Amino acid sequence: MGRSPVTVRAPAKVNLALAVGPRRPDGYHDLATVFHALSLYEEVVATTAEDVVVTVEGPGADLVPLDDDNLAVRAARALAEYAGVDARVHLHLRKGVPVAGGMAGGSADAAASLVACDALWHTGLGRAELQTLAGRLGSDVPFALHGGTAVATGRGERLTPALVSGTYHWVVAVPDGGLSTPEVYGELDRMREGDSAGAEADGPVVPPRLLAALRAGDAEALGSTLANDLQDAACRLRPGLRDTLEAGRDLGALGAVVSGSGPSCVFLARDGDHALDLALGLAAAEVCRDVQHATGPAPGARVVA
Ligand code: C5P
Repeated sequence: MGRSPVTVRAPAKVNLALAVGPRRPDGYHDLATVFHALSLYEEVVATTAEDVVVTVEGPGADLVPLDDDNLAVRAARALAEYAGVDARVHLHLRKGVPVAGGMAGGSADAAASLVACDALWHTGLGRAELQTLAGRLGSDVPFALHGGTAVATGRGERLTPALVSGTYHWVVAVPDGGLSTPEVYGELDRMREGDSAGAEADGPVVPPRLLAALRAGDAEALGSTLANDLQDAACRLRPGLRDTLEAGRDLGALGAVVSGSGPSCVFLARDGDHALDLALGLAAAEVCRDVQHATGPAPGARVVA
């Protein structure tokens, strides 16, 4: 029965602030973070098939698993089980987000897969049910579904929309190779051993000045408050990231920060023209493999065709 293919887009994310609490008994860390969706998208085309099959195209496609390690596959299976239908889908992933770059490309695939399978199989789940399934799949999946800008707590799955004025222009510098998220968290734990300041008694918090800057649409103030507790850990594992961040600051970026667990670095520009200048400067400085211009906030996972 030839159901029409469903195409869904889901955005990359950066963490404008990422405060990390101590390691919990379950191995995760409590976070207080501000997620911001960028206009770099994963596209998932879902068509009916005999089983769950996945194919991948785009930069870094050879690094993406094609079995149940693929988060999009797990999302399809989780949705089928929850809704009580057979998991029959071919998911074709078009990568627009750097693979293993700290920008949640795999989580965007999972969010897109949930929305695409829900439409393809006519399971008609509500947004709240999809958010719950997303939270079980990974810490960043609920935000890829949600999009926009949001404050997140817990592992990153508890979201509250943030008030934002205007559009921000970002330049993303993508270094060669990826970083493993658990390794970066592990490095942070090692750095904090014997350092009581790392384990704040009150738990991690988002800087109020950053939220005020977003509300006011003040790019300069936002740039000066970008913060990431994982940045030093990522830089210890990949010392070259310090040069990348420095190069962007020297070129006049309003702010420079490692995205999530890295290694992608993001730079805030004054406007679109400034972003193009920054992108050209970073490419010429040869401090990364690829440079991209993106705007935020971008919408969450949604059907585009
Ligand atoms: O939830 P997700 O599968 O994306 O997390 C990947 C890994 O990142 C976890 O296994 C854990 O090592 C680390 N992590 C963490 N605390 C979080 C989110 C992720 O320690 N809040």
